[in-house]
Amino acid sequence: MPSQPLQNHFDLAPEVLVLCAPWAVAQVNDLKRVEETFRSELRVDQGFALVIVQESSAETRLAAAVPESRRYVFISRARLEAAADPQTFLRSLLRDALGGRRLFDHRRPATGPQFFGRTREFEALERDVRQGHCLGVYGLRKVGKTSLLRRLADKCREHESVGARVLPVELDLLAVDYKRRSVETLLGVLRRVADAEASRVRLEVLNASGDHQKRIEQLLQAARRTGARWLFVVDEYEALLDGRFTATDGIEFLSWMRGLAQTWPEQFSLILAGRNRRLLVPARIGPLDNPMYRFLREVPLTGLASEECRTMVRRIGRRMALTFTADALDIMLRETGGHPALVRTLGDLVDQHVPIDARAPALVDGALVERLLPRFGREVDGDMREFVQAAEDIEPRALDRLKHLAHGVPWVGGDLEARIDDALERYGILDAQAQAFRIGRFATWLRANYSAPMAAAHG
Ligand SMILES: Nc1ncnc2c1ncn2[C@@H]1O[C@H](COP(=O)(O)OP(=O)(O)O)[C@@H](O)[C@H]1O
Ligand SMILES: [Mg+2]
Repeated sequence: MPSQPLQNHFDLAPEVLVLCAPWAVAQVNDLKRVEETFRSELRVDQGFALVIVQESSAETRLAAAVPESRRYVFISRARLEAAADPQTFLRSLLRDALGGRRLFDHRRPATGPQFFGRTREFEALERDVRQGHCLGVYGLRKVGKTSLLRRLADKCREHESVGARVLPVELDLLAVDYKRRSVETLLGVLRRVADAEASRVRLEVLNASGDHQKRIEQLLQAARRTGARWLFVVDEYEALLDGRFTATDGIEFLSWMRGLAQTWPEQFSLILAGRNRRLLVPARIGPLDNPMYRFLREVPLTGLASEECRTMVRRIGRRMALTFTADALDIMLRETGGHPALVRTLGDLVDQHVPIDARAPALVDGALVERLLPRFGREVDGDMREFVQAAEDIEPRALDRLKHLAHGVPWVGGDLEARIDDALERYGILDAQAQAFRIGRFATWLRANYSAPMAAAHG
């Protein structure tokens, strides 16, 4: 439907979904139907829908029902019909609506057309889950843990994974009502989500028990009959052990899940996600045994692989009529190490900097990105502070090592140095090959915030 120039301008798919709302007043249900169509019809452009309505207030009225990951462009039928040249009219309508989308600025976990890359990580996760491992997925804040695990759960639901069926149950511990934080609450949430999944796939369980734990065991039993496997994904695991729950509650909950994994190795897998493994390392937590001691296979997550990161920037840019040159992409990678939230912040600065009417599409070169780096530095200052915290959580002496590295002062640490470097590499702070910073901006930040160490240090 869109003309060739329009397609080129925004990198549009050859077909666009148009909703002609027939009623005098457009309905929330109309939007639901549009979203369903997007799910089943992959040839249409996934970035936006054009909605032709009768009344001019539809856009404001339906704003809450519009999904975050897609732009809905509303146009009243009267305006469309009054346009002298429909092609030109549509072009300028879309230029303003799609050009001003701020697609880089996406703070929520990335799903659907906002999700990029992670091919290798994804394959490894699928393999681990199929083989029945329980995993600890760790990574810096905003590095993409939740996005990746949601994607995994979505794929399980779409039944795309090879082999036996995997039934996902997602639990975000930070979303649990803090006034009711107890094992009972958690079990109740898990049970509700698992029940919904069971009825979605028509897993039959007779004589449902009222007790949450018994009920979940019944679901595992039912899975055994059909050869399915349950995958429990518990995000922000730290909340269990950092004082938000009582320590006894947190440990009781983890012990129960470990018990499930041991009793039902073919029917149950567990993924815990969080910043790092620190709280799960000790053999004992206070006076109690740590149920996760040496139990989880560790999966540290870094930023996106460089090719995947380039693709992400290029594609998101194209949807807003921005064309990134190779050296612009190089600089973005150098500064961010592919850390998706950092890349998006920098991409958004570029987007804000290029006026919409200068895009035909507009070329974004290295010089432009370079000019925006000081502003980028100010915007991610808080993230850099968190990286320091994260590095110290990973290895107590990491900050000292990082200061030396940033200022080019030797740090002769033998085994300790190797261990610190190795840990920082696995978390995507240092570069695996080069013994240098993977996130260039972090090195700059360290130099600006800490003076050069006086002498070489010994570990
Ligand atoms: N694979 C990805 N592709 C595109 N954007 C991503 C990807 N992973 C994360 N992001 C973006 O990075 C930010 C942080 O992602 P999130 O999954 O919430 O991280 P975490 O759970 O590690 O804190 C979000 O803005 C999200 O949109
Ligand atoms: Mg998260």
